[in-house]
Amino acid sequence: MKKVIFDTDIGIDDAMALLFLHYAPDVDLRAIISGFGNASIENTTRNALYIKEKFDIGAAVYRGAAQPMRQEFLHDYPDFVHGNNGLGDIEIVSPRGTEEALSGAQAMVALARQHPGELSIVAVGRMTNLAQALALCPELPELLHEVVVMGGAFGFNGHTGNVTAVAEANIAGDAWAADIVFNSGMPLTIVGLDVTHETVADQEFFDDLRDRAGEAGTFIHRISRCYLDFHERVHGKYECPIHDASAVSYLLNPESYVTREGPVRVVTEGDNRGQTILDAARIDSAGNELKACKICTAVDPVAVRDLFASTLRLAAD
Ligand code: BDR
Ligand code: CA
Repeated sequence: MKKVIFDTDIGIDDAMALLFLHYAPDVDLRAIISGFGNASIENTTRNALYIKEKFDIGAAVYRGAAQPMRQEFLHDYPDFVHGNNGLGDIEIVSPRGTEEALSGAQAMVALARQHPGELSIVAVGRMTNLAQALALCPELPELLHEVVVMGGAFGFNGHTGNVTAVAEANIAGDAWAADIVFNSGMPLTIVGLDVTHETVADQEFFDDLRDRAGEAGTFIHRISRCYLDFHERVHGKYECPIHDASAVSYLLNPESYVTREGPVRVVTEGDNRGQTILDAARIDSAGNELKACKICTAVDPVAVRDLFASTLRLAAD
């Protein structure tokens, strides 16, 4: 069983990824850590608690970062993608429970110390919680088994940014934190737009989930309406990339991906901030050797979609 922490700015595709983790037989989900991003920290924490209660998820919820490490990375929340409430503006009841007392970063450190070498973190929002955890515990990279990040874009398969020509949302939203995390030496794999934009879900995919994946499928179908409408407005097709669930798919079945290894730097200033660059100089300007990450460069999208759908169908059993 993989012990997993899910670090999420829980909007629409994050919610799909959370249910993917919840129903994956080999996953022991230990914590859901919220973060600002797709919506405010209040909304993302509420969304985490709401989904936890609705689907009887055992993992504890911890409130993560409310804002980026540096003010210049503050953006408006993308309500035009995820709705005002972050879940496509479907009606949601107020959760009965509340988050735990520890902050998201404190919880990451506490769990990593409790289970050295065993924890996998799936991080699908800003890298702020991870950067804060590193500040609390510099030896965190050695304590973790694996970190899978959804974020960034390296130009493979022709995919570059989605919030600017060169920057992806999770990285642009706190480029400073991302640069710290990617150069920390964590055992980290980046699942970026290079592969998530190759892994598309259409109307038929969501209809099938609605019809065959029980309550989880119905819920995903409902929240996906707003997300599909946004992508249709922008790209002219009623389909969307599978972003955050792709990080879960990598965790469960890395064989669906081709990877490359090398140092990754994030541009933190100027018009290109948020851009992720692979194989930048192996030595930084202060003479320090940069640590390597793995990045996904190609994917078998059919295998990813099948794993996602077949795992969710377990919800109907
Ligand atoms: C990423 O940005 C967010 O809007 C999504 O949840 C995903 O994590 C895609 O760029
Ligand atoms: Ca996300």
